Amino acid sequence: MYRDLTEDIAKVLLTEQQIRQRVQEIAETIDRDYRDKDGKLVLLCVLKGSVVFMADLMKAVSLPVDIDFMKVSSYGSATVSSGNIRILLDLHREDIANCHIIIVEDIIDSGRTLSHLTKYLELKGAKSVRTCTLLDKPERREVDFTPDYAGFVIPDEFVVGYGLDYNEAYRELSFVGILKPSVYSSMHREEKDEK
Ligand code: PRP
Repeated sequence: MYRDLTEDIAKVLLTEQQIRQRVQEIAETIDRDYRDKDGKLVLLCVLKGSVVFMADLMKAVSLPVDIDFMKVSSYGSATVSSGNIRILLDLHREDIANCHIIIVEDIIDSGRTLSHLTKYLELKGAKSVRTCTLLDKPERREVDFTPDYAGFVIPDEFVVGYGLDYNEAYRELSFVGILKPSVYSSMHREEKDEK
């Protein structure tokens, strides 16, 4: 049976309307920052959580953009990201010397993913690398990292929706919400029960 996922949400943190407005503001800033630059502007989506933000951002930016995708994985459990990053899918272009890359993320937590990816793309020879995140959780930072573009600074709550998941669920919600703690504690209980 299908369930109403919104029943698992304790509170809507960001409405669809708030997100749409902020995405438009970020896009206008990107337009201003890149309109006089030579080279190709590439929006690089870090799968999977960023797909919803990426889709809205690329439509809101007025400048011509190329898009590309990477998938990385951090070792560790579903709720804790750890220090090591593996590249599971690399971007689909060899010569990035003419590319101004903006890495598009749904959220920065420890900062390790974006810190690592920025260095990786700089070493690969990108003309420039900047970062754009919809959500920033500075309280969780483990490495010193500040995004170039950030939508919303949020508290250290378990958020889902607008691309963000818990155990792959809730990504399709059109808003960002705080998950009821009972959801993840009951899932942990179920996982334990299965062992
Ligand atoms: C999330 C998010 C970032 C990363 C941020 O991805 O999309 O890529 O974690 O965490 P960090 O700042 O601590 O590195 P996740 O690994 O959950 O994968 P997903 O996007 O496929 O859900």
